[in-house]
Amino acid sequence: MEQREDLKSIISYLPVVLRSSTLFWPSAVVEAFKALSKGPQHSNVDSGQLLFLAISDIRNSLSDHTPLASSAADGFSLFFDDLISRAEANKWFGEILPALADVLLRFPSLLEAHYNSSDSVNCLGSRDGLKTSLRLLKSQEPGIVLLSQELIGALLACSFFCLFPNSSRGANDLQVINFDHLFSSLYDNYNEKQENKIKCIIHYFERISSSMPAGNVSFERKVLAVDQTLDYIPSPEAEAWSKSVVSLCQFEVCSSGLIEDHSTEALEVDFANKYFGGGALSRGCVQEEIRFMINPELIAGMLFLPCMADNEAIEVVGAERFSKYTGYASSFRFCGDFLDKKDTDIMGRRKTRIIAIDALVNPGKRQFLHEFLVREANKAFCGFSDPCKSQSYQKLFKDDHLLEVQLDQGYKCVDGNSDNVLVL
Ligand SMILES: *[C@@H]1O[C@H](CO)[C@@H](O)[C@H](O)[C@H]1NC(C)=O
Repeated sequence: MEQREDLKSIISYLPVVLRSSTLFWPSAVVEAFKALSKGPQHSNVDSGQLLFLAISDIRNSLSDHTPLASSAADGFSLFFDDLISRAEANKWFGEILPALADVLLRFPSLLEAHYNSSDSVNCLGSRDGLKTSLRLLKSQEPGIVLLSQELIGALLACSFFCLFPNSSRGANDLQVINFDHLFSSLYDNYNEKQENKIKCIIHYFERISSSMPAGNVSFERKVLAVDQTLDYIPSPEAEAWSKSVVSLCQFEVCSSGLIEDHSTEALEVDFANKYFGGGALSRGCVQEEIRFMINPELIAGMLFLPCMADNEAIEVVGAERFSKYTGYASSFRFCGDFLDKKDTDIMGRRKTRIIAIDALVNPGKRQFLHEFLVREANKAFCGFSDPCKSQSYQKLFKDDHLLEVQLDQGYKCVDGNSDNVLVL
């Protein structure tokens, strides 16, 4: 029953219709996907231009009619009709697009299965019975959403087809989730980095359409309790930090290499925008956005994770990497397939743990004021903390002074897990 409430709470952000507790696409949409799934001979969609017309038709059968970015049509046409080779275009329209249409046909049943599956997960540390169904993870409410990689594939196919309703996202601190701006930016201000961002996404669709990955990815909003009566990890004040004699956990410093290439199990920092994903779906192409292009499943979190507050962080476990790349910002280039060989955990998540912690924006000298030092320390603490150990942290920071006796009892590192190496 509770899962059904979760579904209702997010249904206005999803493109499917919920009626008499059944999820479905409007029939005109089903017909359009069926035609697309049979390939260009049936759908006539064999160019970027015709693809955008098909997308517009499908959108007309849905309830949200907020206009797409004005150059999106030109962007689709530029990418699929001019920038990629004819051979690549043939493969895209002949094989990949039909496979995506198939995934989209399955989307309502994938969602049903998601909400019907047992919602209590016992393997997330000690947090028995934690709910994990797809819902908005609102600000100041800690929570976790566990999605199969297949459901994420369907969500990202919805983004590609620009099907998500857009009207209430901004007012609820949610970024745009459709790909119209990704394509319109390609046309409005053509540059190779934008072309290569799209190549990463297209490559992801190519991979999942030839072999759908079978694992899971979790997205968690972590919150430090500002109010001491709350039952989760407290947000320490300046005094607690300055008096703290708790040792840091062990860490290693690596002076070369890229975060995503690190083979040790580590927390991998996303130097995030307070809006998870930053400019990934518009023009951005630096650390966070690049990560979202090579591990596109991260994008799914942008659907349901509103803006982070100072006392919040986001942790994603299991996002698979699909692309190799070179360069950074304007020199960013997709350079082929990447096979992610990371192990998986008992929940089927790749052991890639990414934490998004947004730093202050251009703070200048303000960053050295107490208030801002504490803000940054707590932001990092939130990202690196383990919500399973909230009781231990509560003891650590209790009543503004540390109970030093407890230090000898195993609270030697704030992370609680000395195996974690921090890679910056
Ligand atoms: C993914 O999570 C679901 C729900 O908890 C679980 O039933 C399934 O076994 C997991 N998949 C894998 C590959 O472990």
